[in-house]
Amino acid sequence: MQFDRIIKNGTIVTASDVYRADIGIVDGRITALAGDLNDSDDIVDATGLYVMPGGIDSHVHIAQPSGDGIVMADDFETGTRSAAMGGNTSIISFCMQEKGDSLRESLKVYHAKADGECHIDVAFHLIITDPTPAVLGQELPALVEDGYTSIKVFMTYDGLRLRDDEILDTLESARRTGALVMVHCENEDAIRFLIGQHEANGDLAAKYHATTRPIAAEREATHRALSLAEIVDTPIVIVHVSNREAMEEIERARMRGSKVVGETCPQYLMLTADDLDQTEMEGAKFVCSPPPRDKASQDACWDGIERGVFDLFSSDHCPFRFDDPAGKLNEKGNKSFRWIPNGIPGVATRLPILFSEGVQKGRIDLCRFVAITATNHAKLYGMYPQKGTIAIGSDADLALWDPAKTVTITNDLLAQGADYTPYEGLKVSGWPVHVMVRGKTIVDEGKLTGEKGFGAYVPRNRSSMMASHKPAD
Ligand code: URP
Ligand code: ZN
Ligand code: ZN
Ligand code: ZN
Repeated sequence: MQFDRIIKNGTIVTASDVYRADIGIVDGRITALAGDLNDSDDIVDATGLYVMPGGIDSHVHIAQPSGDGIVMADDFETGTRSAAMGGNTSIISFCMQEKGDSLRESLKVYHAKADGECHIDVAFHLIITDPTPAVLGQELPALVEDGYTSIKVFMTYDGLRLRDDEILDTLESARRTGALVMVHCENEDAIRFLIGQHEANGDLAAKYHATTRPIAAEREATHRALSLAEIVDTPIVIVHVSNREAMEEIERARMRGSKVVGETCPQYLMLTADDLDQTEMEGAKFVCSPPPRDKASQDACWDGIERGVFDLFSSDHCPFRFDDPAGKLNEKGNKSFRWIPNGIPGVATRLPILFSEGVQKGRIDLCRFVAITATNHAKLYGMYPQKGTIAIGSDADLALWDPAKTVTITNDLLAQGADYTPYEGLKVSGWPVHVMVRGKTIVDEGKLTGEKGFGAYVPRNRSSMMASHKPAD
């Protein structure tokens, strides 16, 4: 049999196995996995490399408006370009409903932003900010059928947050339609109270972003979200968990029988609140929510990764330029931390950081690396087995990793829209040197070779978790 392309002599890694085989590709899909394939004019030599499923980052914000003239640093071209440089072949980005708009209208806007711009494949979660009966009763069921099978709701942020009754309505609709709900858990009223106190005291520096969003505010909201989900018997995903107390809420809910998935992110392994405590507004570079905590919280997040509390490791890429009046250094942000836009870039650094700090330092094995960076995302968000694994029939979305390559991270390397990375100067061991989407090389020798427009929109199935969930009724 003649193949369009063969990946030869690599060590294949999936969420369950590590083995030597060649990969045959026809029409962008894997059609053979065998010991010695030769029938192709296009042979990629993977000697000494791990051949892994390309990363799937299921928590990425791109081109999402934040009001007050603040703009995100990445559009779909730069965001997906940077994702590719970091070994990703798919992202799931957010489509945010503007209050008063229908979900369909919102999707039209985000598809228009993404169409023809992407370097890698893209799907959309729906952020619901206005859960009207029409949205939950009519739109959501139809959209789930159309392949938009996950939503995010916020318990914090003025203008985005939902009340508990609205969250219950949304969860109930999700249960009926089979949508999977992601929840951002922080207690907005507590945060507003603390912000008011700090501003009254004249405590305005970036570091107070962290003190006004304490662990207790995250733990309480996590407990509440889990309780609401339990009340309507609906599975949920608790996103961007930053500390042990919130993590333990997830474990307790699981012990009660709830179906809960936990997600954590590189910032909670690598940064602390001390990073926000810098002069000249440098601390603004690290402002995200929940905020980075302390060393004990970092250890807790590693523990959660190792013990399987966290099944998802995502970037929560939410980039703003630093030296920019439309970014971190906007006029109001200079006056109070309250106005510094929340979010940090990270789509390109997620995988190298976990590979280096996790696999190379012996905290997790290769299979777990693949599971929490690709396979679980595909299964949980309905892209499996098209995406997230190396198997006959799957898309040939592959990242070839050189475990011996040492890289010092600098912003220049990441091809992103932001003018900084929170990880500038970090030395990592292991790098995705060759990345292909549906069999086509988009990064080679660490250089971008793909073109925008090759990345395609991916309609999704229902989550594996929703499909297997039999409501108690
Ligand atoms: O600070 C953050 N995380 N910004 C992105 C939006 C979100 O809450 O995920
Ligand atoms: Zn969030
Ligand atoms: Zn986010
Ligand atoms: Zn190559």
